[in-house]
Amino acid sequence: MCLGDVYGGTFELLGENLPRLGIETTFLTAGETDQLPDVLTDRTRIVFFETPSNPDLDIFDIAAITAHTHKAGALVLVDNTFATPVNQNPLHHGADLVIHSATKYLGGHSDLTAGAVAGPAELLTPIAGWRKNLGQVIAPEIASLLARSIRTLVVRVRAQNVAATAVAEYLAEHPRVTQVNYPRPGQRRPSRHRQNPDARPRWHAQLPRRR
Ligand SMILES: Cc1ncc(COP(=O)(O)O)c(C=O)c1O
Repeated sequence: MCLGDVYGGTFELLGENLPRLGIETTFLTAGETDQLPDVLTDRTRIVFFETPSNPDLDIFDIAAITAHTHKAGALVLVDNTFATPVNQNPLHHGADLVIHSATKYLGGHSDLTAGAVAGPAELLTPIAGWRKNLGQVIAPEIASLLARSIRTLVVRVRAQNVAATAVAEYLAEHPRVTQVNYPRPGQRRPSRHRQNPDARPRWHAQLPRRR
């Protein structure tokens, strides 16, 4: 099951490549997500979504989707590329696995292509076996560039949050702009996650027009 809009390559993988291997995906638009409990069946294995999504920056309630999905015996897989682990950690809200295009914020210097998957060992171990045999093993040079990048991830993303908020606020005030879709991360301290793992991520999906 795939919720909302997703990166074009992912859409092709789910819609064109995987069906040839007998793996079918049902697509729900962001507006249809409340139908999820009715659409889940005992054949559903994974519910997948990006939050914020690419390209519309839709926000999904990870904890609520996880509750429905787990009731149906399926796993939740979240693409957290746009949020980054600095702004959101889906595992803290019940998701089973999280993926990232490390080519984006994790890499941050436009000099590498990589991906990452995070989750509990029992789910990652079989993925490592597939990765080895399918050739998705990161080259050592790229891995060392990524390790360099991740050291500065927190300061880069915090600076980008400030800069992007300034741009979004400017646009929201602009007389020729009617709507700004800019999901702003809430101002939570990381410790609150640890104290209350059920705390939901707070996002403000749209900037209000002030005039
Ligand atoms: C949300 C999201 N996930 C995954 C990808 C794929 O990333 P990569 O180019 O690193 O394979 C992209 C690329 O734009 C993306 O936007």
